[in-house]
Amino acid sequence: MSEPRVQVVPDAETLARAAADRVTEIARAAIEAQGRVTIALSGGSTPRALFRLLSQEPWREWIDWERLYVFWGDERTVPPDDPESNYRMAHEELLARVPIPAGQIHRMRGEDDPSEAARSYEAVLREVFALAPGAWPRFDLILLGIGADGHTASLFPGTAALHETERLVVANEVPQLSTTRLTLTAPVITAAAQVLVLAAGADKADAVRRAIAGPRDLEETPSQLLRDARGEVTWLLDEAAAADLPEADDD
Ligand code: 6PG
Repeated sequence: MSEPRVQVVPDAETLARAAADRVTEIARAAIEAQGRVTIALSGGSTPRALFRLLSQEPWREWIDWERLYVFWGDERTVPPDDPESNYRMAHEELLARVPIPAGQIHRMRGEDDPSEAARSYEAVLREVFALAPGAWPRFDLILLGIGADGHTASLFPGTAALHETERLVVANEVPQLSTTRLTLTAPVITAAAQVLVLAAGADKADAVRRAIAGPRDLEETPSQLLRDARGEVTWLLDEAAAADLPEADDD
């Protein structure tokens, strides 16, 4: 596992632009090399500005959208039109605005029974990635965020999914939120060719420090799973989120 790259930019707006550049760069390289690119989108609020930029010039014209295969790193157990839905936000800000073939947009079915939704999403991954039994999908890019509590995707502190070593996707009970979430598991995340973690705001600074530089304690800071990543990990932070890092590299 190589050391993560930490890129610090002044503010959230610059972060969205830097992220749009990085996503475009990864997508173009993957399309050039293999004719398609597989990307798992993150949820929450941070990626909203990124998705909006990708739908606009110049990024819009830089990506061959018909070669994109879109997935999610996690999803709330709500219908796709629910304000809490990660799919809904991505659809509003990006997917409804670019010509990705509908059959290449693979949302997690938050409206279904969570265990069934997890199983059906695993079947989608096995089909699209043509996985042999026991193999892990290797996403070209997995976008992630980090919570102030150190969670990423929907791998929350102290939850069962943190210990999953066989499944690709699980329904994870999250007592802290009194809900169940659908999430890719740690082995899938760590198998990705590229992981890009976006974090902005002072409320993320302590979690970012724990994730990157803190003593290993996956139960307390699940984002530390990225230390076991087999691909490249880039933390793209604004100055506020990077403030507690020992020696944040300013880019
Ligand atoms: C979700 C996300 C989650 C998110 C973090 C940060 O479904 O909420 O996948 O992991 O990335 O909670 O969320 P914000 O970007 O809203 O701070």
